[in-house]
Amino acid sequence: MKISICVGSSCHLKGSYDIINLMKEHLEKNDLTDRVELSAAFCLGRCTSTGVTIQVDDEIITGVCPDNFESVFNQYVLGGKLG
Ligand code: FES
Repeated sequence: MKISICVGSSCHLKGSYDIINLMKEHLEKNDLTDRVELSAAFCLGRCTSTGVTIQVDDEIITGVCPDNFESVFNQYVLGGKLG
């Protein structure tokens, strides 16, 4: 599985680095670091005012923030092909 977290200027202002850290923590906690290629991406072309854009394989998820991170992770990472 490939996960990219946008660090373009809009997402950066919405807390890309918090999301990267949360993602790392959650991947470690679930013992998935070997199965996921985590990278940072430039603008994914889907900037929103509500949060950070991430890409999980072919799926683009917008508006990711610390408050909804857990449910995004459960749905797209654990509920994806790793689940
Ligand atoms: S800066 Fe992240 S989608 Fe544009």
